[in-house]
Amino acid sequence: MKRFINSTVVFTFVLTVALSLTHVETAQAEEFFNIEDGSLARPVGYREWVYVGTPLTPNDMNDGKAAFPEFHNVYIDPVSWKHWKKTGEFRDGTILVKELVGVGSKAAVSGRGYFQGNFVGLEATIKSKKHFPKEPGNWAYYSFSTPDHKTLTTSAKAFPKEACNSCHLASAATDWVFTQYYPVLREGMGTGEIAAGGKNSNLD
Ligand code: HEC
Repeated sequence: MKRFINSTVVFTFVLTVALSLTHVETAQAEEFFNIEDGSLARPVGYREWVYVGTPLTPNDMNDGKAAFPEFHNVYIDPVSWKHWKKTGEFRDGTILVKELVGVGSKAAVSGRGYFQGNFVGLEATIKSKKHFPKEPGNWAYYSFSTPDHKTLTTSAKAFPKEACNSCHLASAATDWVFTQYYPVLREGMGTGEIAAGGKNSNLD
């Protein structure tokens, strides 16, 4: 009888641990964003997500007036990155953040070039059937940037599809995302690898 009780206690304990682990797993699979009454709260913590690349369209290569003259540092949430590596697809619930960084300097001891200065803006795109059933591809687009480039708004409303979605639909390589400019996403696409910095690397 004692033995029976002991094993029941152990079994219950193991079950509880297993259930709480499942819960953690489910919680992680949830969204890395918060939309309330149609407004997206400014994402936080994204510099600790997975960094995928930095396009740059500087003013002096665009007649002095590039539409986006800054560096664009792009990040993906870690659960969507895991899904991307496994399947080569963006899961429902993906968020990509694009942090704008001004060109700070054009010369360094290493030579002439473009070097990152200050953070000047923040944009985001989210794929969600639940939140955007009518947007093409279920992608919606947001900006938290302000005209003075020194502050960010605390929340934002999605842009109409003509402002953002249409160009992404027409020209992005994979499911509305410009993966052609993000080497980390290209390397990791559907490879199922840990992608820690190269195959057969002892960092894997
Ligand atoms: C004329 C085409 C065009 C329009 C319009 C456009 N984008 Fe983009 N967007 C791009 C290109 C090209 C990239 C990748 C290269 C870069 O960042 O310069 C990009 C990248 C992004 C990314 C990074 C993730 C991804 O999908 O690649 C976000 C976030 C983003 N844009 C938000 C917006 C928002 C918000 C708007 C509307 C205010 C917008 N875009 C309008 C062309 C466009």
